[in-house]
Amino acid sequence: MNVCPSVAMAFMGVTLLESCSSGGDDEADNGGGGNSNNQGYTVNGNTVVITLSHSTFATLNSNGWMNFTAQKMLILKIDASTYRAFTNSCPHQGVRTKWSYNSSQDKFKCGEHNNSYPTDCTTNGDAGGKLNCYTSSYSAGKLTVIKS
Ligand code: FES
Repeated sequence: MNVCPSVAMAFMGVTLLESCSSGGDDEADNGGGGNSNNQGYTVNGNTVVITLSHSTFATLNSNGWMNFTAQKMLILKIDASTYRAFTNSCPHQGVRTKWSYNSSQDKFKCGEHNNSYPTDCTTNGDAGGKLNCYTSSYSAGKLTVIKS
């Protein structure tokens, strides 16, 4: 008779956590650190690493900018290897979802009260206050943004 020892032990009132299965293991693969979410970016503390070719960022590639609402940031594409990232909180009253970008003026405009903000990280916008820039760097198709 071929009886699994743990089953036999269970009949005798002994509980074991081992199973009789052989081969394989049930260890979860968490991707090796960071917070991988299959959405084309990872988050580790204040650092967001974006895979620019992922479909999540198709709008950024086609329009030259996007409101990356999942991470509360605006991203502006300057060229294929140069990007800028900003908070998406409007300096006026903090609205995050009404942005548009005017490429001829190089300004983001918040549609809540139609105030515009330069993207140079230094110049104040219509309502006073400047759009807060994040530190960002590009390497091999990935954009790393440090939110601060
Ligand atoms: S909240 Fe953006 S312009 Fe007022």
